[in-house]
Amino acid sequence: MTQNPARIRKAVFPVAGLGTRFLPATKAQPKEMLPIVDKPLIQYAVEEAYAAGIRHMIFVTGRNKRAIEDHFDTAYELETELESAQKNALLELVHSVTPNDMNCSYVRQPRMLGLGHAVLCAEHLVGNEPFAVLLADDLMTGPTGGDPVLVQMVKAFEKLQGSILAVQEVPLNHVRRYGIVAGAPAGDRLIKVERMVEKPKPEAAPSRMGVAGRYVLTPEVFAEISAQPKGAGGEIQLTDGIAALMKKQSVYAFQYEGKRYDCGSKEGFLEATVELALQHTEVGDAFRSYLKTLAL
Ligand code: UTP
Repeated sequence: MTQNPARIRKAVFPVAGLGTRFLPATKAQPKEMLPIVDKPLIQYAVEEAYAAGIRHMIFVTGRNKRAIEDHFDTAYELETELESAQKNALLELVHSVTPNDMNCSYVRQPRMLGLGHAVLCAEHLVGNEPFAVLLADDLMTGPTGGDPVLVQMVKAFEKLQGSILAVQEVPLNHVRRYGIVAGAPAGDRLIKVERMVEKPKPEAAPSRMGVAGRYVLTPEVFAEISAQPKGAGGEIQLTDGIAALMKKQSVYAFQYEGKRYDCGSKEGFLEATVELALQHTEVGDAFRSYLKTLAL
């Protein structure tokens, strides 16, 4: 373990995936730049990390991902235009994407060798301290008026000082889509993980607790990921690294309060679009009225 009490200051966003489930939309643009209403998926995840007190955002990118770097950079022409037209509200909106105290780093994953490998690509930027991992295609919303999911996890980390995986109860016929964990109750909404199975068949699932795309990890996970034998196609899985870490230090599963939308799939993306549009201050009411006119 690192020195106590450690704080989570850095977040890793693995965004090197091909997003094949969204072709042709993702042929020339990153999946993470697809918007839910008016904000790209990656910005929702970055805002969640920022709300959790994290100021150093580390993106693990690949080819075709330049739009992500541009999104978090100064948009010189756009800002100059908005400024001279005195469109101050829009200018503020553009500036708010990258608050002054936020730093962004980018590292390339040269080959798509799995999520574990993507996280390993960020090791030199994370260093020897605990960090968060956010998969932007899992859009997470906290309870109405409550803490965003990563905020809940960082609070739990402050007490536990150990790795934490976000989990939710999933229907039995969906367990094969998730990493499934099982273990002993370890406090409010917490399970001390004893077993972890990647995408089990329903009959082989040790529980219905499925891992969602939010992790808080201790730096010791890097050595465990590196030590993993490569799987099919040379892939290195994050789950395998965490399962190995579990043998050396406590790993917890945290049943977060809130909702996950699997925006890596078309259904989840549409669900998020409809629900967030209904909550949107500008278009919510009009959209609700429109939906009511549909003969569903
Ligand atoms: P997915 O399994 O959703 O893969 O990866 P994908 O390529 O993005 O999408 P599909 O399945 O082809 O439609 C889960 C997360 O891990 C990242 C992805 O960017 C995504 O956020 N990832 C995965 C990497 O960064 N590198 C990898 O080698 C694999």
